[in-house]
Amino acid sequence: MIIAIDGPSGAGKSTVAKLLSKQLNFEYIDTGAMYRAFAYKLYKNNLSITQENISKVLLETDIDYVENNVYLDGENVEDYIRNENISKLASDISKIQAVREKLVELQRKISSTKDIVLDGRDITTVVFPNAEFKFYVTASAKTRAERRYSELIKKDEKVTLEEVLNDINKRDHNDMTRENSPLKIADNAIVVDTSESSIEEVTKKLIKIIRGDK
Ligand code: C5P
Repeated sequence: MIIAIDGPSGAGKSTVAKLLSKQLNFEYIDTGAMYRAFAYKLYKNNLSITQENISKVLLETDIDYVENNVYLDGENVEDYIRNENISKLASDISKIQAVREKLVELQRKISSTKDIVLDGRDITTVVFPNAEFKFYVTASAKTRAERRYSELIKKDEKVTLEEVLNDINKRDHNDMTRENSPLKIADNAIVVDTSESSIEEVTKKLIKIIRGDK
């Protein structure tokens, strides 16, 4: 069974998806982490986003997702990909069709023969439009910025709430208006707004829907 979850940055979809996968005993893929890992490879090698660099890196790069961790060329890179630098770069490289094609193919391959929860921006529309369950998890930009800000402060990142909000608005704009696989609500997707609910409440709600409870 495939449970596909899309939504904008910071809506809590990864946390919900992870909790869901645990409670249902499914595997989980954070597809954003795969775009981040690819961005990190460019960053680490000091490569700018040119067609030549992208084509070369695509040929030489191996990305995998195993037990809630993303691997870049065999190395677990979870600790290096969740900062503002990589967030921006990931959003930029995710516009490129060749990058998307490679990652979508990998996501489908990793998911074959498994019960799985995936979250991202194009899972319900492109990767698995026929998933058994399709959810669009969202929240207001202000709520998302506040959540992201408190996470970053915990990690000692020097940012202001205003910067985080601007960044979220920019990334939403990028993700929703790009030509290739823009973020949008898929046909038949169930929309869940997390602005006024806790992550636990949202997860419970999704479990109920999936199990068909009244
Ligand atoms: O979900 P997360 O914020 O970690 O994703 C990082 C970036 O990767 C997003 O801003 C988005 O541009 C891109 N992405 C994507 N398609 C996905 C997952 C992420 O374009 N399925």
